[in-house]
This record gives sequence, C-alpha cells and structure tokens, in this order.
Amino acid sequence: MSPEQYIKTHIRTVPDWPEAGVQFRDITPLLSNPRVFRVLIDQFVHRYFDVRPSAIAGLDARGFIIGSVLAYELNVGFVPIRKKGKLPFTTVEETYELEYGSATVEIHTDAVKRGDRVVLIDDLIATGGTMMAGRKLLERLGAEVIEGAAIVDLPELHGSQRLRDSGLPLFTLVSFE
Ligand code: PRP
Ligand code: ADE
Repeated sequence: MSPEQYIKTHIRTVPDWPEAGVQFRDITPLLSNPRVFRVLIDQFVHRYFDVRPSAIAGLDARGFIIGSVLAYELNVGFVPIRKKGKLPFTTVEETYELEYGSATVEIHTDAVKRGDRVVLIDDLIATGGTMMAGRKLLERLGAEVIEGAAIVDLPELHGSQRLRDSGLPLFTLVSFE
C-alpha cells in the first residue's frame, strides 16, 4: 500500500457533521496512531527538506498540529494564522467564506519578514477560502508563499483548482470525491 493509501485509510468520514449534507473528513485517527502519524509527517518532511523554507505557517486549528511538527523537523520557525481575537500583538486580518459559514483569520505583523519563503499548511482544502486568506496575510507582510500543503483535498468543492488557478502551487496527499 502506498503512503497515501495508508494515510487515507486512517481518515474517518462522519456524515452530516457539523450540519446536514457535510461529509466531515476527520483526521484524528491519523494523529492517534503513531505509525501513521510518522508516515504522514514524513511525506511533508521529504517534500520540503531540500526546499529550505524560511518558516512553516499553519492555519487554525488543525493546521497547527501538522505544521508545528513539520517546522520542528525542518528546523525552521512556526507561524500560527489564527481565528480572529486570539493573537495578542498587532495583527492584520482577512475575512473569507467557508463550506459552512464565514470566518476571519489574523497574523501577527512581525510573524514573517519581507522576502521570507513560507510553506502554508492545513489539514484540508474544501472551498480554498481558508488557505487563500492565509496566503493573502503572508503576502501582505511581504512573504512569498512557495507552496500550499494539505493532507486532504476535496476537489468537488473546487478550492484546490481555484488556488492553483490563482498561481499558488499546491501539494496534497489524498482526495475524497
Ligand atoms: C477547516 C479545515 C480548514 C478549512 C477548509 O477548518 O481545517 O482549515 O476548514 O475549508 P475551506 O477550504 O473551505 O476554507 P475549520 O474552519 O472548520 O476550523 P478548525 O480547524 O478550527 O476545526
Ligand atoms: N473543513 C471544511 N470542510 C470540511 C470537511 N468536509 N471535512 C473536514 N473539515 C472540513
């Protein structure tokens, strides 16, 4: 079995959560199994080891789980992009639409420097709104997002296509149609 198939078998689908019609792709079984968690993180480490990004930025909240471990493994800093109202220092913000509802995310204004080359990571891409908002924040601070990365792509929601069409390279491991 390929690493991608192995990872996919450990993602749980919960129907009608958090609301009717949503097939929720739950990554917690990936995290609780140390073997598959290591295989998962290694996919990203191998992808970015030679790229030598300046930092890994992770999207609140599930992007923090994999992003911080990846940053540790690559020996670079981790930058949290948080939902509004959680960051204490000066911030910039972006509001965006989700598959269910809308949200605003923020980043500390000193989180990255002009010219930094950042990998932006999350667990999943649905409409792509979250990753697009995170990318805008990093770019407003002068950083370059060299790639967006996620475990799961939901291609039916067209987010990954929209992100690629906007010029953002994307790396995802598994997709659910
Ligand atoms: C989920 C997921 C992504 C985002 C993807 O996060 O973890 O961040 O939605 O959707 P999009 O591509 O349509 O933007 P959620 O906002 O549910 O927050 P959580 O990580 O705190 O559960
Ligand atoms: N975030 C947005 N859509 C999602 C889904 N279907 N499963 C898990 N997280 C999500």
